[in-house]
Amino acid sequence: MTTALITGATAGIGAAFARRLAADGHDVVLVARDVKRLREQATELHDRHGVEAEVLAADLSEEEGIAAVEARLSDPKRPVDILVNNAGFANKGRFLDVSMADELKMLTVHCEAVLRLTSAAAAAMKGRHRGAVVNVASVAAFVPRGTYGASKAWVVQFTQGAARDLAGSGCV
Ligand SMILES: NC(=O)c1ccc[n+]([C@@H]2O[C@H](COP(=O)([O-])OP(=O)(O)OC[C@H]3O[C@@H](n4cnc5c(N)ncnc54)[C@H](OP(=O)(O)O)[C@@H]3O)[C@@H](O)[C@H]2O)c1
Repeated sequence: MTTALITGATAGIGAAFARRLAADGHDVVLVARDVKRLREQATELHDRHGVEAEVLAADLSEEEGIAAVEARLSDPKRPVDILVNNAGFANKGRFLDVSMADELKMLTVHCEAVLRLTSAAAAAMKGRHRGAVVNVASVAAFVPRGTYGASKAWVVQFTQGAARDLAGSGCV
């Protein structure tokens, strides 16, 4: 039995990842902020697919939330075989219309959280010679689309560089 941890697992693309991974027989760890939505989804995935569905409420724009997910990914007693870094959002408004606090929040979720969670997961996977990380970017990474596109361009470059450095380690 393998375990997949999905961030932003309760809506949109992350929910689709969670449904597909559960349907394929993976136990899942669901990460998002809204505990009620997390519990509802965990119940649905458990009842429909018979997998274990764990809930981890965490705000990935906050130190405490990132640290909690890092700790879960690093726990040797409960290995995570697949990490999907999906949580993300776009601020409404053009450059200079968005507050610096909101810009930094987006960068924390798209860049700092992705860096730290990928690092925690990949270090554990490398030790086990097995595992996979999926980082969700956007087509906006390849066109000029303000700070959102810039943060997703970071995700693409970071992921390609990490994949190259981890080649042959068993972690893809
Ligand atoms: N939708 C698109 O057209 C599109 C296109 C290209 C790329 N993307 C990328 O795909 C990813 C998913 O997008 P989506 O449109 O599917 O998102 P969505 O439907 O808005 O769902 C976002 C998910 O992330 C969680 N989330 C949001 N902020 C969070 C935070 N600070 N900490 C932890 N969890 C958080 C939400 O749950 P809570 O609110 O409960 O935390 C929810 O589960 C994002 O990275 C996005 O940039 C989306």
